[in-house]
Formats: sequence, C-alpha cells, structure tokens
Amino acid sequence: MKRKSILWTAISILVILSFVLTGCKKAEEDQVEVFSWWTGGGEAAGLDAMIAIFQEKYPDTEFINAAVAGGAGTEARAVLATRLQANDPPDSWQGHAGQELIGTYVAANQLEPLNFLYEQEGWLAVMPETLIPLISNDGNIYSVPVNIHRANVMWYNPALLAANNIAVPTNLDEWFTAMDTLQAAGTIPLAMGEQWTAMHLMETVLLGSLGADAYNGLWDGSTDWGSAEVATAFDNFVRVLSYTNADAASLTWQDAAQLVVNGNAAFTVMGDWAEGYFRELGKTPETDYGWTPVPGTNGIFQFLSDSFVLPVGAPHRDAAINWLTLCGSLEGQDAFNPVKGSIPARSDGDRSLYGVYLQSAMDDWASDIVVGSLTHGVVANDSWKDEINTALGLFLSDLDVAGFQAALVAACTSSGPCGN
Ligand code: GAL
Repeated sequence: MKRKSILWTAISILVILSFVLTGCKKAEEDQVEVFSWWTGGGEAAGLDAMIAIFQEKYPDTEFINAAVAGGAGTEARAVLATRLQANDPPDSWQGHAGQELIGTYVAANQLEPLNFLYEQEGWLAVMPETLIPLISNDGNIYSVPVNIHRANVMWYNPALLAANNIAVPTNLDEWFTAMDTLQAAGTIPLAMGEQWTAMHLMETVLLGSLGADAYNGLWDGSTDWGSAEVATAFDNFVRVLSYTNADAASLTWQDAAQLVVNGNAAFTVMGDWAEGYFRELGKTPETDYGWTPVPGTNGIFQFLSDSFVLPVGAPHRDAAINWLTLCGSLEGQDAFNPVKGSIPARSDGDRSLYGVYLQSAMDDWASDIVVGSLTHGVVANDSWKDEINTALGLFLSDLDVAGFQAALVAACTSSGPCGN
C-alpha cells in the first residue's frame, strides 16, 4: 500500500514537471522580439527579407519587430540603453562588431557567449578570421555578424559630373578642385545630413588625409590627436565642410543621398547602405549613381559589421537562438544583404545574387587594407565615441581646429588608450 502511494506521488510529480517544462519551452518560443534601427529607406527591406524566412521556418513564433527609427542607431541605441537599465532586454538586438560590442555590452556583462552556436553551425569555417577577434573576449564569441558594410564610399551623380567636365576625383586635391567648379556653377558639391553623417564624413576624411596606419594609430594611441598631421587632416575636413548644403543638420542620410540621385548635389559620402536605398528608389547603378572610395582612401576598406546578440536573461531565449541561427546562415545572409546593400559576413555567399556595386565591394573586401569605422562602432567604445561626438557638435559650429584637437586629446585620455 505504502509502495503504491509513493509510486503515484512520483508519477504525479513527473506529470506536473513535464507540464511545467513544456509550458516554459512554449513560452520561450512563442515570440521573439528583435531590436534594430532598420525602419525604412532601404534598411527595412533587408530586415523584412530575413523576417519572411524566419516566419516560414518558425510559424508558431510571433516575430516582434522592435525597430526604432533613426540612421546609425542614434535614437534606437538610447531606447535600448533605457531598456537595459530597466532590466527589460529585447530577445536580440543589433550591435556593431568591435568596441561597441566588446567595450560596451560585453564590458557591462549584458551578453551570453555564443561559442556553442558557432560550434553547432560550423561558423568558424565560414566567418572571416579578421572579424572573430572583434566580436570576442577571453575566448568567448558574443555576436552573430550578418554583414560587412563599407563606410568610405563616395556616391556621385554621373550626369552632373559630365555636365561640368569633372572626372571622378581620386585624391583630396582633385576633389577640392572638382567641388570648386561645382560651387561656381551653383550646384551643391557635397550633400550631408544630421550630425552622425558629419562624423561619418570626418572619419573618412581623416583616413584619406592620414592613411591607414596613422588612422589606426588614432585608436590604439600611437597617433597623437594633437599632432600637426591631425591638424592638417582637420583643416581638410573644414574645407570639405565648406562644400556641403546649408540645411544639412535637418536632413536624414536618406534625404542627403536623395539630393545626389535627384541631381541637386554631385557627391555624398555614405556607407553602402545607400546602395540599398538607391535600388529601392528604382535607380540604376552606373547611370543614376556612381561610386568611388572617398578621395585619398583608394585601396582601403573602412568597414563595419552589423551583428545580433543574445542578452543575458533573454525572455524568449530559444526563439532568440533560432533568430541568431538564421542570421548566421547562408540562406539568411543571401536574402538580407543583396537588399540591404551589404556583402555577407560569410565567405560563401552566392556572388551571382549581388549587383555590380556589391560585387565590387566583395572584391575590395578581399584585397584592400581593412580599417574600422568610428561612427559605426568598430574602433571606439560608447563613452569615447560620445565624447568625440560632443566635441564634434561644437566644432561644427566654431570650426576651431586647435580647440577640437584639445578636446579630442582629452577624450582619448579619459576614455581611450591615451590615458594608459
Ligand atoms: C549603421 C548600420 C547600417 C545602417 C546605417 C544607417 O550604423 O550599421 O546597417 O543601418 O547605420 O542607418
């Protein structure tokens, strides 16, 4: 009798336990909230392509697209920070490979390592060796890169250049001469948008003026922010700014890019997500828009990579892992990138799916010197970048090179490697 009742108790416990476990499993998979800043203008379409595959593969999981508008994540990242502070993480979010990931989220212990997924999916064999250290810390890998973007691209309007007898400039002097001609003809030489696009322009002009080694030195402390060569680079930046549209501060990157394809401006410097936008607008490569490395940066590929993470305490961890598995898959990357205007992070993407610009980017990625972007999270952690951004805001109004350099020396000391 006693034995029987023990048996019954054991069976009941097992039944209850299995109900609880299945319930939890269900809760872990019934939805997934993915956070990004891809809401429009070429950005959303790429994300939508991946969401469509996700929904086909996991029809029982509700996909919650928690994208917050604003290029380069300016607004989204503030919203994310507030949520993380309130201990309310989405199931996965977009983060840039490099210091944004390692120096910010990993440093704050907000992410789970993903080595198990890399092993399970065999990703180490297909993800670029250069990228793995930028998403790793102490042997742990913390994100799944979906793409490689190029930052140092200058887009131009071929018809406007032809009408003004201008050849595509390859160095800063040729660029200045071209922009003088355009300005004299009453055309906006260079379209720019809100402040982050000015930072983007600045980093490419720094690269074009300093070259890859000295540019890299800015981020590891071996190039002095207060030096004469950096002063010359900022003098160049001041001159470049003098060719930009007066209403820059109120334009998004899409607005600025559109000035070029609409024939209102000759050049704009923007990452290759602009290609996704131009295609979405129905524009034709090499006819409606051309591209070239930002003058002075030929042979250098200034890169960034969008990746997705698994937060500690993801509310729907299993579904988040399904999302990450898709992000790292060949199928996911080859659906996302041709639309987004980026090349796959994986080395085995199907080249024939990519247009003429992206094929050229694939070639350059394979052969150029690769350096990282500031604006898009590779070379500086958030606090350093924030300090640079504050100094830049002032500089854009006073154009005081010496004052700017002093602020940047201080920023490198307080948040970068110069204080060590
Ligand atoms: C970058 C991001 C790109 C693109 C761009 C403009 O930071 O890596 O994927 O979204 O911002 O919003």
